[in-house]
Amino acid sequence: MYLPQNIIRQKRNKQALTEAEIQCFVDGVKNGDFTDAQVGSMAMAIWLNGMTTQEVVCLTMAMRDSGTVVDWQNTLDLPIVDKHSTGGVGDKVSLMLAPIVAACGANVPMIAGQGLGHTGGTVDKLEAIPGFNVRPSLPEFQKTVKEQRTAIISQTKDLAPADKRLYSIRDVTSTVESIPLITASILSKKLAAGLESLVMDVKVGNGAMMADIESAKKLANSIVSVANGAGTPTQALITDMNQPLGTTVGNALEIQETIDYLKGKYREPRLHEITIALAARMLLTSKIASDITQATDLAESALASGKAAEIFSQMITAMGGPADLLTNSENILPKANIIKNIVAPKAGFIGTMDTRAIGMALVQMGGGRVDHNQTLDYSVGFSDIKPKGTKVLEGDIIAIVHAQDEPQAFLAIKQYLTAVEISSTEVDVEPVIHELIQ
Ligand code: URA
Repeated sequence: MYLPQNIIRQKRNKQALTEAEIQCFVDGVKNGDFTDAQVGSMAMAIWLNGMTTQEVVCLTMAMRDSGTVVDWQNTLDLPIVDKHSTGGVGDKVSLMLAPIVAACGANVPMIAGQGLGHTGGTVDKLEAIPGFNVRPSLPEFQKTVKEQRTAIISQTKDLAPADKRLYSIRDVTSTVESIPLITASILSKKLAAGLESLVMDVKVGNGAMMADIESAKKLANSIVSVANGAGTPTQALITDMNQPLGTTVGNALEIQETIDYLKGKYREPRLHEITIALAARMLLTSKIASDITQATDLAESALASGKAAEIFSQMITAMGGPADLLTNSENILPKANIIKNIVAPKAGFIGTMDTRAIGMALVQMGGGRVDHNQTLDYSVGFSDIKPKGTKVLEGDIIAIVHAQDEPQAFLAIKQYLTAVEISSTEVDVEPVIHELIQ
């Protein structure tokens, strides 16, 4: 029998907690035996004093087991693999990746999040598709994964409920930015989905949770070692978020970019490099491919043959969306009332892009949220975004804004031009993939 104050004191005094003490904390978070003040104090003690890898493994497992853990045993017999991103602006990779990897023979049951603040969420992008149900019952989710090898759904309240309360208390106690707490939070939810292996996309840069490469490496190493310690083979790629990913930011616009990508109409090079690299890592961790060359070839062939596009289309239909989305998206996806060019105010090169500010410009237009209960305008955003390093002449289009009305468009253009520097000299562009952690 443990008292909350004794467990908190132990962590405050920089002593490691036992598995039983961590279990007591997580039970207390779930059933209310730890008050908000006690949960907040514990989060702060962890924030200040950290945790050993063993402690983080125990915290992750206890949080995973605080709710339903999906059991695929009687449903699926192929490898079960997923990818998780720490969040970025214009990050629509999951939408391409899931059908590519499914087309190569793996099962990809993806449980994705809503966007919050400047980062977008995969679930919000899918909700831009009329009829798409991101909240099916568990049996419906399992049926779709069995039939299509992939389904992307929203986080449910039954998965890792202890994380839900802990995260909301961390949010108001300045304890979000803690590597042990972020690791346990992300992994508890991912492992509750019953995965056999996982690939992490840890974003770094001015639009990411981790602003510098050292912190990104620490987070990636923590997630990889804890997930491996929990018995789920995991690799991580550290990828750049110093500019939006791809050419669009905004929910319906990103769905259109996904369709164009899967059909081969246009594949923005940085988006393509990350997508194929993550797909290849998923094929390796799930043992569908035996080396990186074979894994890359398989992923590229799934795209080139049209199989990935076909699986995407079937998954959309299975989840309640329109069967003709891939051929009729222009008439199906919501459209903004006002579409205006954003032009370069002078000649030069696209320099520093304040990626967070571009994400916040989307929020200001109603395309992203600052609290979980907000409803979104799926039509708004930016398209035709010119990447960092692009040479431009005065008056060249550097992006297009999609807004609901003139004042909104005016403000978004102003915010975009403030966020994007036009440099008079050539600029160094960060590589899209920094490092592999395994
Ligand atoms: N995302 C999560 O799910 N948890 C965190 O702690 C941070 C980001």
